[in-house]
Amino acid sequence: MRNTIISLYQPSHLAGLIPTMQGCVERTAETIQLTVEGDFDFSDLALKLATDVIGQAAFGVDFALSAPPQSERDGGGEAAEFVAEHVHSTTSLKMDLSGSLSIVLGLVAPALQAPARWLLRRIPGTADRRIARTNERLRARVEEIVASRERDGDRRRGQRDFLSALLNARDGSAKMRELLTPEYVGALTYEHLLAGSATTAFTLSSAVYLVAGHPEVEAKLLAEVDRSVPSAAPAADDLQHEFPYLDQIIKEAMRFYTVSPLIARETSQQVTVGGYALPSGAWVWLAPGVMAMDAAQFPDPGEFRPERFEAGCEEERRRHQYAHVPFGLGPRACVGQRFALQELKLAMVHLYRRYVFRRSPRMESPPELQFGIVLSFRHGVWLRAVERRSAA
Ligand code: HEM
Repeated sequence: MRNTIISLYQPSHLAGLIPTMQGCVERTAETIQLTVEGDFDFSDLALKLATDVIGQAAFGVDFALSAPPQSERDGGGEAAEFVAEHVHSTTSLKMDLSGSLSIVLGLVAPALQAPARWLLRRIPGTADRRIARTNERLRARVEEIVASRERDGDRRRGQRDFLSALLNARDGSAKMRELLTPEYVGALTYEHLLAGSATTAFTLSSAVYLVAGHPEVEAKLLAEVDRSVPSAAPAADDLQHEFPYLDQIIKEAMRFYTVSPLIARETSQQVTVGGYALPSGAWVWLAPGVMAMDAAQFPDPGEFRPERFEAGCEEERRRHQYAHVPFGLGPRACVGQRFALQELKLAMVHLYRRYVFRRSPRMESPPELQFGIVLSFRHGVWLRAVERRSAA
């Protein structure tokens, strides 16, 4: 089963998703065009873009959230409503006391989390109850989509989205049918929507925000983008080799604002880490954002400097290989890493071919961050897009 999932993130499958991703990116650029020279919340649009991309890749449904408002929405009102709930549930998962108490308790006393959650879900007005209700509605909607796709057997066979691939795999053998119950398929598909949208959107917003404040970085990026073949979606191979400076910008943006604040592991046996003896069953929390600010690994960590990731440079050679782990590490590392990088690069290449971005006066500095299951910008990322023709 894991092979079915992993195969969807292999380069050959991902290359096939370029036209879909590029279509969503071009639509987003059209939406930006409507507010050219005016203030707009880039992070809101980025979340819509990332949700559209995952919608197509995971469910085979076009939510069309990033489209200019007047256009027809293929997914219809129901899809838009579903996604509004999804966006709400993503942003309401916070790790401070304004969020779910059971999540906070889980950080300090994991054993108490399940009983506390069970109790809090029954108390009106608690964040745990609100989150539980939203999640129930979302799960029901995902299960509806799964059921309708199941009925659609013949049409689905030629489709490349995640949900169709799981259902096709299930049709292939009795063992898979037993394993892939409708609830499990729904949960897996929904996991992808949740794991892949807010993370990618935050990273895109951070990168564009940071470039907007660093003219020397912007100039190098524009030079690289302008060297590529104009007005075509870059092929997978070009994306991998033709944009080394863009790669550095994305890595540095992910270091500067690390979207996943915590990575969790449970020890399966007694182990000693850094001189601390941990019993079997202990929870270990890794904070990649804290590691990313370690001056021993990243000199002047408060400076946004993509050059620190230049291949083979002194700083890069001296750095510990696990100092920068925005996608986690080991067998449970992010399966969507290549997917996210492909989407981020397509988006940045296309957007910077058409626009440069300036920070709006209504954007606070430094931006206020909100710590949730993933990081988000509390008040959004307010920018102004300037068309490259008129920016010259
Ligand atoms: C910039 C974007 C992204 C970042 C920074 C990111 C980061 C992460 C991190 C830190 C983890 C936990 C890894 C660990 O425990 O070692 C994770 C897990 C995961 N991510 Fe991502 N992610 C991103 C985009 C995506 C996308 C686009 C998808 C799907 C298309 C995705 C799907 C997943 C899934 C399914 C898991 C759970 C893997 C497992 O438990 O085996 N992620 N991600």
